Amino acid sequence: MKNIVVLISGSGSNLQAIIDACESGTISHGRIAAVISNKADAYGLERARNAGIPTSHLAAADFADRDSFDRALADLIDGYQPDLVVLAGYMRILSGDFVRHYEGRMLNIHPSLLPKYTGLHTHQRALDAGDSEHGTSVHFVTEELDGGPVILQAKVPIFDGDSAEAVMARVQQQEHRIYPLVCQWFLEGRVVMQSDAAVLDGERLPQHGYASEE
Ligand code: GAR
Repeated sequence: MKNIVVLISGSGSNLQAIIDACESGTISHGRIAAVISNKADAYGLERARNAGIPTSHLAAADFADRDSFDRALADLIDGYQPDLVVLAGYMRILSGDFVRHYEGRMLNIHPSLLPKYTGLHTHQRALDAGDSEHGTSVHFVTEELDGGPVILQAKVPIFDGDSAEAVMARVQQQEHRIYPLVCQWFLEGRVVMQSDAAVLDGERLPQHGYASEE
């Protein structure tokens, strides 16, 4: 069984989807060894405790700078001998050393059809731009913010009169389907990062990941 360490900052609905996938067998090649949050009140910590998963909290205020926080975080993570580090709504910028340490074994989910809308407020930005669709991307983490190679995306429609909250709920439904799936692909060894590209079953994936329309 491979070890997954999940980093969160908030609600943890994606964490819950991964917990459920481990329980149902959708994720059959790994188990969540620990959940770590940078926010003490993250609801995801309660979800982890309910599932009997060890939890930790690291507060940025206890560290002099980003590098020292990330070094302590890496020490904590490495204590669980992770095969895979999953960012699931982890809302802190990562230092270069931290990213390099986990290169090729750290995934993120970002609520947009990357490379569109890196950063924050993606749902509102899609609405403001008059887009007819939005979505989410699972990607390998590299030093470029939200810029690592995409493995899988899911699209959702945007309807007239939608609020950012409505779009977000639609996007999150898809996130809960695709994130566990990609974790399983990774743990089975089907998807790897090679020379800054995502490779699935030996095929280099295009810019938008698997099942892209390109
Ligand atoms: C998710 O929608 C995820 O895509 C987003 O935060 C949400 C966390 O929800 N991540 C980012 O914006 C990262 N840039 P959750 O805590 O309920 O899983």
